[in-house]
Amino acid sequence: MQQVSIYRGASRIVVSGALAMLVTLGMGHAGALVAQQNVVQFASSSSADVEVTFTADIAPILQKNCQLCHQEGSIGPMPLMTYQDARRWSRRIKDMVVQREMPPYQYDTDTGIQDLKYDPRMSEEEIATIVAWVDSDMLEGDPALLPPPIEWPDPTEFTLAERFGPPDVIVTSTPYDVPEIGQDRWWQPSVDSGITEERCIRAIETKAVTIDGRSVTHHANTTFRGGDGGGGRLSEYALGKLGEIIPEGACRTAPANGQVGFDIHYWPNGIQVDGAQVKVGIWLYPEDYEGKYRQTLSLYGLQGGRGFDIAPHGTLMTQGFHSFRTPVRIDSWQPHGHTRLVAASIQILRENGRTEMVGMVSNWSALWHHSHIFADDVAPLLEVGDKLILTSWYDNTVNNRYNPDPDQWVSIGDRTADEMSHNWIGVTHLDEEGIEQIRADRQGRLILDRD
Ligand code: HEC
Repeated sequence: MQQVSIYRGASRIVVSGALAMLVTLGMGHAGALVAQQNVVQFASSSSADVEVTFTADIAPILQKNCQLCHQEGSIGPMPLMTYQDARRWSRRIKDMVVQREMPPYQYDTDTGIQDLKYDPRMSEEEIATIVAWVDSDMLEGDPALLPPPIEWPDPTEFTLAERFGPPDVIVTSTPYDVPEIGQDRWWQPSVDSGITEERCIRAIETKAVTIDGRSVTHHANTTFRGGDGGGGRLSEYALGKLGEIIPEGACRTAPANGQVGFDIHYWPNGIQVDGAQVKVGIWLYPEDYEGKYRQTLSLYGLQGGRGFDIAPHGTLMTQGFHSFRTPVRIDSWQPHGHTRLVAASIQILRENGRTEMVGMVSNWSALWHHSHIFADDVAPLLEVGDKLILTSWYDNTVNNRYNPDPDQWVSIGDRTADEMSHNWIGVTHLDEEGIEQIRADRQGRLILDRD
């Protein structure tokens, strides 16, 4: 398949497979798109000339992919609700969708596992339709074709509530006043979890309580402390992250009568936020749920946890290797870094020497953190002896447009101006029987699919 590469700074972004081919628009459109490098032109066919219009083609795409954030009172910088909005922002919209920066979800489309749960990436056809509209006359179209407006949930409410209903438990951090300007701050209160019996967690979502609070909350990690049944990592949150979902059959334990310890990193960002708070919504599996295998979310370091420096105008690659004492399933992957990180990947080195690409992000943005959750039937299985290879690439040159100051030495550290090098990985810890069972189940479903 042909591919289109765009160079953004030092990191290569492969935009497409299908976009680079001749794409014929579906649904009665006779037009065709021809892509040349990152320039996509709309070539209308001479006879049955059907235009791409806002009401029929663009409005549904914006509703589905953009308006959750781009509406009055949500987190996007401008609404994308009306024909006028779309026209006014058309050039930027085209750039952002072609480069797969919007909707914000950095995960390469051409390498590694593509079957992800809750995947917000747009289809090639949707992108091609937007490009065709922006490159043509940007017609409004028949108002009767405009889809009815969507009723959106309150943007400060939990997003996962749409799937799982309201959380069983909500734990809120104690308030903290974040000044308009200043150094990074850390706030580490402990709050009773309100969970009175040991249970298995189904999903977790962390949210700043207000929209202003969101923009100053760089990360908010939570851990269980005390209680019966021990502590352990509850969740990890960094700006822009949705949440975590624990696959069925696995158990991330919530201890009885424990406390939730918050580790919040506030980042003064030009607005004063008094009484900033973070809330954690926890959905539990039913009491009689049997999660045989322990599921953990842990931080996996690169470079063996040692420090590093990135020279002014320099670049760096860090790498980490991890093996496990039992067979495991890798459920989710989330790279972490700051403004000099530009790309990250996760691979498997099999005991027989073969490597497999699991996932790659080549357009990293520290504004958005995502836990990429692998679909049940493709989540990678590792035997004892297999290893994970985690790689991160840093760019401290002017080519990295997020770089606040290429003249600085950058070291590893907690501040936003420092760098970090680790991944958050969700792992189900299996045994021989467990891994065999998963293989057999997958095989069974494959056979069913074929029938
Ligand atoms: C999850 C929330 C979210 C979704 C979904 C989303 N955006 Fe955004 N968008 C943002 C935020 C926040 C910003 C500003 C920060 C940034 O650039 O990351 C932004 C910035 C932009 C900008 C840049 C504005 C400027 O100042 O230049 C454009 C254009 C844009 N979005 C278009 C879109 C389009 C088109 C879609 C759907 C295909 C979309 N966005 C989906 C949150 C979102």
